[in-house]
Amino acid sequence: MKGVANVETVLKIDHLTKKFSGLVAVNDLSIEMRKHTIHALIGPNGSGKSTTVNLVTGFLKTSEGTVKYHGEEIQDRPIHEISRKGISRTFQNLKLFKSMTVLENLMVGGHSKTEQGILNFLVNPVKARQEEKMLKEKAEDILNTLGMYELRNENIGNIAYGRQKVTELGRALMCDPKLLFLDEPAAGLNPTERVEFVSILLKVFESGIDLFLIEHNMDVVMNISNMITVINFGTKIAEGTPKEVQNDTQVISAYLGDKYRK
Ligand SMILES: Nc1ncnc2c1ncn2[C@@H]1O[C@H](COP(=O)(O)OP(=O)(O)O)[C@@H](O)[C@H]1O
Ligand SMILES: [Mg+2]
Repeated sequence: MKGVANVETVLKIDHLTKKFSGLVAVNDLSIEMRKHTIHALIGPNGSGKSTTVNLVTGFLKTSEGTVKYHGEEIQDRPIHEISRKGISRTFQNLKLFKSMTVLENLMVGGHSKTEQGILNFLVNPVKARQEEKMLKEKAEDILNTLGMYELRNENIGNIAYGRQKVTELGRALMCDPKLLFLDEPAAGLNPTERVEFVSILLKVFESGIDLFLIEHNMDVVMNISNMITVINFGTKIAEGTPKEVQNDTQVISAYLGDKYRK
């Protein structure tokens, strides 16, 4: 990447492989992600994008390979340990609690960060209540930043899908990530919601959080990514800046079609 040759590596994925019985979902994949970048991972359906994110964030065990975060190996570590290091994620299929409010959904996302579980609430209710208050204030702050404060007491089931996607982003922000994985955050959004979502993402990025983005909408990917890795059948087929990737003949035939040739 031009001008950033010396920029620190945040995430280094080396020879990552995941086999599901007979199927190789991720195949000897290596990706290096630099600090202060929006790094996109694109590829056809079933090419192994979500599996890659699941491996890096601890939701799946690797078959082979390593994942280093600031030089430290994190593959196969428990989810909460990876999260404590500053890595957070959203899910391709929303994992919000439908019976809870927007605010409560964010507070649930922050609980892994606090020491106080339900048991501690019984042992030390005063401290637990203080933590609850801090969580609430933090959730309100985040909702405010995301333009969702007015909706904080609405039940998730009663708000538009686009707002639910923003809520999920808010929940991922509750654990103070430095690196955020977004698995198709703009899928299912209408064009207006999508534009809004992109501006929110850029705001999050500008606040100092690096983004690893899986996204199908090529206008979004090409407009906001610094670097793009393209995979097909779990294997990397190209990598480069949006411009480089757009002109890669292999990428065009596997995925993009001619529309994006520049
Ligand atoms: N838990 C699983 N068990 C078995 N096969 C899986 C599992 N998760 C994903 N796969 C398979 O791995 C491949 C890659 O899936 P996925 O990573 O979800 O692709 P993408 O996110 O690029 O659409 C697909 O063939 C999918 O069916
Ligand atoms: Mg997926």
